[in-house]
This record gives sequence, C-alpha cells and structure tokens, in this order.
Amino acid sequence: MKDIETRADIDDLMNRFYARAMTDEIIGCIFKTAKLDLKHHLPVIGDFWETLLFGTGDYQRHGRNPLQVHAELNLKTPLAFEHFERWLEIFGETVDETFSGDRADFIKLRANAIANRMLEYVSRASGELF
Ligand code: HEM
Repeated sequence: MKDIETRADIDDLMNRFYARAMTDEIIGCIFKTAKLDLKHHLPVIGDFWETLLFGTGDYQRHGRNPLQVHAELNLKTPLAFEHFERWLEIFGETVDETFSGDRADFIKLRANAIANRMLEYVSRASGELF
C-alpha cells in the first residue's frame, strides 16, 4: 500500500470518506440536516487537509474557522461524543483501506486531535461541560 502523496490522493480519500459518512446510520442524518453540498465542500476540505499535510492547500483563503463552523452546526443539530467517535472510526477505516505510511498516520492523528478540540469547543458553546 502507498502513502498519501498528492492532492489527488486527498481528493480520493475525501470522496470515499463522505460517501460513507453521509450514508452512515449514526452520523448520516447530520449531513442531511446541514444540507451539505459536496460540490462546494470537497474543494474546501481538500484545501484544509492539503494545508495540514503539505503546507500548500491555502485553506486560509476561505476565511473560515472549522471550530466555529462546527459550533454553528451544533446549534442546528447537536454534536455529541458518539458522533465524533463514529466520524473518527469511518475516517480511520477509509484511510486504512488504501493508504499506509507516515502521512496516513499523521492525518489520523490530526483528525483525532482536532475532533477532541471540536468536541470541547461545541460542548462549551452549548453550555454543557461533558
Ligand atoms: C461529529 C463529527 C462531524 C460532523 C457531523 C461534521 C460535519 C460537517 C459539516 C456538515 C460541515 C459543513 C458545514 C457548513 O459548511 O456549514 C463540516 C465542515 C467541515 N468539517 Fe466537519 N464534521 C465533523 C467532524 C469534523 C472533524 C473531526 C474535522 C477535522 C478533523 C472536520 C473538518 C471539517 C472542515 C475543515 C470543514 C470545512 C469548514 C469550512 O467550510 O471551511 N469535521 N463538517
């Protein structure tokens, strides 16, 4: 198996991840409530991970803050520990399906760390501290 080497690899990973996440029994409904438009979202999320993996994706140009984006999402449909847990499970499985190596490990580690920060942020924003 090869490692994540290019933006095309990230795009491929994201296509497969959202195909699974959006039809998942536990978290699929959240994407429906959010009316996620993949045509708009995929290039943005690709920039996000390209920035983290290769330092080139230019996510900043979108002027968005993922913590804030999910805090707003949490107001529409509450995000709980089990949603992040499932998100990470699908993400890890999707990476492991086709990639292995330092970047494959790194993207899973970063996803984990960001998910923990997001959960903490949305919990504070909605006034429940775990
Ligand atoms: C419970 C788990 C999660 C759910 C249900 C979820 C769902 C969503 C949805 C619906 C959007 C689009 C929001 C909008 O544009 O209005 C979004 C955006 C995004 N998500 Fe998540 N997400 C989750 C966890 C994560 C995690 C753990 C990460 C990163 C490791 C992440 C990274 C992003 C990024 C970068 C965006 C794009 C923000 C932008 O438009 O600039 N998400 N997410």
